[in-house]
Amino acid sequence: MMEIIKMKFSALIALCAITSAYDITQLKVPLYADPRRAAELSCHFQMDDEKLHSVKWYRDMNEIFRYNPSQKPPIRLFNITDIMVQGGKCEVDSCMVRVMPPPIATRAAYTCEVSTEGPKFFIARKTKHMTVVAIPEMDPVIIGAPKVLKPGEQIFLNCTSDYSLPPSDINWYIDDEFQKPEAWQRTEQSAPQPGGLRRSWRVLRLRVPPTASGTIRVRCEAILLVEPPVVRDANIIITIHSRTQPSKYVSNSVGTNKYLNEVLLLTIIWTIKHILRFVLI
Ligand SMILES: *[C@@H]1O[C@H](CO)[C@@H](O)[C@H](O)[C@H]1NC(C)=O
Ligand SMILES: *[C@@H]1O[C@H](CO)[C@@H](O)[C@H](O)[C@H]1NC(C)=O
Repeated sequence: MMEIIKMKFSALIALCAITSAYDITQLKVPLYADPRRAAELSCHFQMDDEKLHSVKWYRDMNEIFRYNPSQKPPIRLFNITDIMVQGGKCEVDSCMVRVMPPPIATRAAYTCEVSTEGPKFFIARKTKHMTVVAIPEMDPVIIGAPKVLKPGEQIFLNCTSDYSLPPSDINWYIDDEFQKPEAWQRTEQSAPQPGGLRRSWRVLRLRVPPTASGTIRVRCEAILLVEPPVVRDANIIITIHSRTQPSKYVSNSVGTNKYLNEVLLLTIIWTIKHILRFVLI
C-alpha cells in the first residue's frame, strides 16, 4: 500500500516537472563511449511560454558548446584539453553535440544547461556520466601449449588478450584453481593502438607433477575492470602421457603375442609332422 502511494506520489512529481514552463525533458549521454568513434550527446527541452536564451554543454566544469539563437553564429564550440568537439546542431526543442572521447579510460560528467530569456533567466540543468571504454571483441589466445606432456615436465604458456581500453588483466587457472602470479609473471601491455587500446599478455609456468595422470585443464581469463567487469576466456586441455604404465603394457602385450604365435606355429609344424608320419605309415 505504502509502495503504491509512493509510486503515485513520484508520478505526480514527474508530471509536475514535465508540465512546468521550461525543462530538460530528456538528456541522452551514452553510458560508454568507444575512444575510436565520436559520441553523440543530445539534450531535449521544452520552453512553453518562456523564450529560449541559450543552451550550453559542459564536460565536468568546462564549457564545450554554446547555442545562442540571437547571436551570429548561433553555435560556438570549445575544444578543451582531452576532448575534441567535432560538431553541434540545434532544433527548436533539442541540441546535439558530437565529441571525440579522449584515448584514456575516463569517466566524465556531461551537463546540459538551458536558460530562458531575461529578465528572469531561469535555468534548467541535467547531468549524466560517460565512461570511455573499448570492450575486447575476441577471446584471448593461449600459445605454447602442446597436446601431450609427460609427468615432471615444465612448459611456459603465453596468454594474450584482444585490444581494449582500459587494458585487460590476465588471470590463469589450472583445473579451476587460481594461479597466483610469480614476481616475474606480471601482466605486460603492448604499445597503444589508435584510441589508446592495448593488448595484455602474461606468461604461466606450468609444471606437471611427477605423479600426474589424465588431463590438465588450463584457462586464461582476460578481465576488463569496468562496471560491470567484462570477462573473456580461453581454455586448453593437456593430456598427461605417463611414460611407465601404458608403454610397458603395450610392449609387454606385443611380446606375449609374439611368443604365443611362435608356440602356435611350432605346434602346427609338430602336428603336421605327426600326421604325415601317420599317413606315410
Ligand atoms: C578543435 O580541434 C580540432 C583538431 O585539432 C579542430 O579541427 C577543430 O577545428 C577545433 N575546434 C574548435 C572549435 O576550435
Ligand atoms: C607473448 O605473446 C605476445 C603476443 O601474442 C608477445 O608480444 C610476447 O612477446 C610474448 N611473450 C613471451 C614471453 O613469449
